[in-house]
Amino acid sequence: MSRLPDKILVLDFGSQYTQLIARRIREEQVYSEIQPFDYPLEAIKSFNPKGIILSGGPSSVYEEGAPVTSRELLELGIPILGICYGLQLIALQMGGQVAHSDRREYGPAVIEMVETDALFKGFEATSDEERRVWMSHGDRVEVMPKGFKILAKTANSPVCAIRHTDKPIWGLQFHPEVHHTVSGRMIIKNFVFSICGCHPSWTMQSFVNGSVEKIRETVGEDKVIGAVSGGVDSTVMAALVGKAIGERFYPIFVNNGVLRKNEAQEVVYLYRDILHLNLIYRNATERFLKALKGVKDPEEKRKIIGKTFIDVFVHEAKKIEDVTFLAQGTLYPDVIESVSFKGPSATIKSHHNVGGLPEYMPLKLIEPLRELFKDEVRGVGKVLGLPDSVIGRHPFPGPGLAIRMLDDVTAEKLETLREADAIVTEEIQKGGLYNEIWQVFPVLLPIRTVGVMGDERTYERVIVIRAVNSVDGMTADWVRLPYEMMARLSNRIINEVTGVNRVVYDISSKPPSTIEWE
Ligand code: XMP
Repeated sequence: MSRLPDKILVLDFGSQYTQLIARRIREEQVYSEIQPFDYPLEAIKSFNPKGIILSGGPSSVYEEGAPVTSRELLELGIPILGICYGLQLIALQMGGQVAHSDRREYGPAVIEMVETDALFKGFEATSDEERRVWMSHGDRVEVMPKGFKILAKTANSPVCAIRHTDKPIWGLQFHPEVHHTVSGRMIIKNFVFSICGCHPSWTMQSFVNGSVEKIRETVGEDKVIGAVSGGVDSTVMAALVGKAIGERFYPIFVNNGVLRKNEAQEVVYLYRDILHLNLIYRNATERFLKALKGVKDPEEKRKIIGKTFIDVFVHEAKKIEDVTFLAQGTLYPDVIESVSFKGPSATIKSHHNVGGLPEYMPLKLIEPLRELFKDEVRGVGKVLGLPDSVIGRHPFPGPGLAIRMLDDVTAEKLETLREADAIVTEEIQKGGLYNEIWQVFPVLLPIRTVGVMGDERTYERVIVIRAVNSVDGMTADWVRLPYEMMARLSNRIINEVTGVNRVVYDISSKPPSTIEWE
């Protein structure tokens, strides 16, 4: 008989590392979910976690408006681990005192064990290097809470790890979830398995099985539509929904005219001939290009593409009778962002291309990937047998090539960019670099430069090559491409792409630059 998966709840106090905690636990094949610090006690009880982690956070516990949990949480009998701010909060709630330290401790420190404990199982035989942990805190526990004992200290923190002598409550001043804490994985495993008694059963295969069952149950005999782009998220979403309900799922793919070379044909082939889904394909190139005519402002381009997309999508969707559900490829980071204590981060660019559906189309939402991180989505894609070319595909913005020409969108400029893009992708793939790079693409500049070809003076366009590495698109570093590769890209683009006589390489990181030029 299959048992329900064990779960660990992470309560978020606003730390930049909160997502990492959940990821580390999931890497051990135990399901973990993040909720805001003020998640109601009743909801926690019905979630029924095997353990609870209180994350770190930027606040000081004595600060006005500092986030707190109900004291009752500590009496539930469920194992609790407080990390950094979480530890300080536990200390305060259990009668200890926290002081603002003169010296902010940020960076590596080596812990010294004071007592052996289940949380530090395996630490007896560790070297100094293996006991190196990552600190990032200003406040620290000054007076120990009642009933607690010290498990470990560092040169700067006499109270670095503590536990209650008879309640299942632990606290760490350092961050076990970051890679700089060398034995962090061991500590997390000790908490999850030895202390909480979890069983490792959260795998992508188990996710697929559970998810297919859930989609069938939710949808019943109804019909589902969903927008797809050929990108990883929407393709995995579509493959999953298709696996669950087959012909009653109608993925809709709109060609917005700003796609890459051969992209529309490839997406149609993927959905129809490889995934055997009921794809509805609509080429709306003319409509998009007409709407974009003469528009130079990047945000304006995004808005027009988003709005036109909705119009076309709704038009196609209305042709299918009796649809009740809309499937979307929302991922966990978007969900967390919307519930996070910090609140949604400031919008630099409006990345959410697809606005809401109009109110006269009241569809119920299904979001089968809303519990998954990006790498888990790729894992699900593998389980579902998607081709590597889809799973490893570089991100491509919804407004496509329209935001890579720094100018108004014309068929001629699109053609130039498409040819350059095809060369870049082909060479990077041939050179075995595609999977090493987060994104690589050309940008067309709105200027002309003088060149010489044979005896002729030329006055033509400039292409920029942008290659970046990133973990999540939030920050990025430019890729140090081998010179030979740069030379090949430059030669081929100048020789083969009509109207281009110069190629330059972008050496800016994000921040302060962004990945796209618009
Ligand atoms: P930036 O340029 O903000 O890009 O550093 C970060 C990531 O987001 C992609 N991007 C977009 N994706 N719609 C999208 O779907 C957009 O309007 C958009 N703008 C940027 C970009 O390609 C990179 O992966």
